[in-house]
Amino acid sequence: MSISALLSVPNDCGLPPILLVAALIVLTGIAIRRTSQQRIDVGRPLRLITKAQGESPQSATSPICYRVQSPQPYHGWSIRHTKPLPYRAFRYGPKYNITMGLRTIDRDEWIELDNHFPKYHADKAIRIQERGDKCIKTHPDAVPAAMELLEELANYLPARYPGLFKRTAVGIDNVWSGESFNILQRPLREDPMTVCARLIQDDLALLLEQPDGTYRLLAGCILLAGFWRLSDKFGMSLSDIHTSGNVPSFQEKLERGMVKFFQRIKTDTMYGRSNYFIQVDDSLPWSHSIGDEDDPDVGWSTAEQGKIIHHHWFRSERQSLRRLPRTRAICFTIRTYFLPITEMAEEDYVPGRLSSAIRSWDHDVSKYKGRAKYEAVLLDYLDRKHQDQVRNGLDLAREEHVRQYPW
Ligand code: HEM
Repeated sequence: MSISALLSVPNDCGLPPILLVAALIVLTGIAIRRTSQQRIDVGRPLRLITKAQGESPQSATSPICYRVQSPQPYHGWSIRHTKPLPYRAFRYGPKYNITMGLRTIDRDEWIELDNHFPKYHADKAIRIQERGDKCIKTHPDAVPAAMELLEELANYLPARYPGLFKRTAVGIDNVWSGESFNILQRPLREDPMTVCARLIQDDLALLLEQPDGTYRLLAGCILLAGFWRLSDKFGMSLSDIHTSGNVPSFQEKLERGMVKFFQRIKTDTMYGRSNYFIQVDDSLPWSHSIGDEDDPDVGWSTAEQGKIIHHHWFRSERQSLRRLPRTRAICFTIRTYFLPITEMAEEDYVPGRLSSAIRSWDHDVSKYKGRAKYEAVLLDYLDRKHQDQVRNGLDLAREEHVRQYPW
C-alpha cells in the first residue's frame, strides 16, 4: 500500500493520518529488529540452510544461511596413543622473512586433540579456578558469538572425535572426563567461553567487526598463552593488540594485509598459521621467566640469562582463523605445542635448521623473542647436536624430500 493510500484510510483511533503512518513505520522497525534478534537467539540450535557458493564479502551484521558440515571422524584417534603433531615451523636463514604466513586448512582439521589432552584439561581447570575472569572474558555484545562458537564445538567434536565426545539432546558429554555440558539451559552454568575452554586444548578468541570496520577482541579464553594476558588486550582492535606488544615490523609489513584479510574472510574457508618461541622454563600456562603474571610490566629483560639447556623449551602455536556463519564473528584458535629442546633436538635436521633460523633473526625479532637470554647456551648445544647428526651420516641433501613446512 502506498503512503498516499495509507493517508486516505479512515481510522477510528482519532489520530491524524500522518501520525498513523509514523506509528506504522516505528512498529515495522521494531518488528524487523525483533526478527533479526531472533536470528542470534542464543537458544537456537545451529543448523541452518544452504549457502550459495562464492559468498560475497558482507558486513559483520548481515546474517547468512550456511549449512554446517560435520567433519569426518579422525580414524584411529586415541587419548592414550595419538601424539601431538610435530610442528617445527622454523626455516633456514640467512634471511628471516616477516609475512602473515597464512595457509588454508582442511575444515575437518579445525581442532587438533592428542594424548596431551588430560594435561591441558587439568591445567585449564586449575587456571579457571584460580584466575577465572582474568583469563576468560565475554563482552555482552559478544555473547551471541560465544554461544555460536560453543554450538559449533558441540557439533564438531563428537563427529570428529567420537571416542572422546558424545552429542546429547541438550549439549555434549566428554566421556573420558565424565563432564556433561548442557548448552541449552539458560542461564548457562558458566560463561560460554569457559565451557569452550574445557572442551579443547586450544585457547580461543572472538573478534567482532565494529561500525568503523575494525575488528575488536570481545571474547576470549586465554589460559595457556605463556607470554601474553587477555586482560591486557581485551577490547583492543587487531592493530592495537599487535602494536601494544611491539610485534616486529607490524606496521610496515603486516598491518595492511591483516586488516584487509579480516574483512574478506569467508565462512567456508579456514586459515592457519604457525609460529615458534623459545622459553626458558617449563610452564605451559605462563612463562614465569618473563615475570610474575600479576606484575603490571612483564618482559624478557627480567629473565635469567644462560640457564642450562634442560630449562630450554620449544613453544609453537598452531593458530586457525574462521568466520562463524551466524554472527559473523572471527574465531581465532591458538593451540600451543610445547616440548623440551633436548627432546626435539633428537629429530633429524632439527638442530641444524633451528640454529640457522635463530641466527637469521634481525635485531627487532631477536629482542621480541628474547634471544640474548638463551642464545649462548642454546646455539652451542644445537651446533653440537647438528655435528653429531652429520657425523652419524645424516644426508643434508635429502631434507626437502622428507619434510615440508610447517613440519
Ligand atoms: C592474520 C592474522 C594474524 C597474523 C598474521 C598475526 C601475526 C602476528 C605476529 C607475526 C606476531 C608475533 C609473534 C608471531 O610470530 O606469531 C603476533 C603476535 C600476537 N598476536 Fe597476532 N596475528 C594474527 C591474528 C591475531 C589475532 C586474531 C589475535 C587475537 C587475539 C592476535 C593476537 C596476538 C597477540 C596477543 C600477540 C602477542 C603480542 C604480544 O607479544 O604482546 N593475533 N601476531
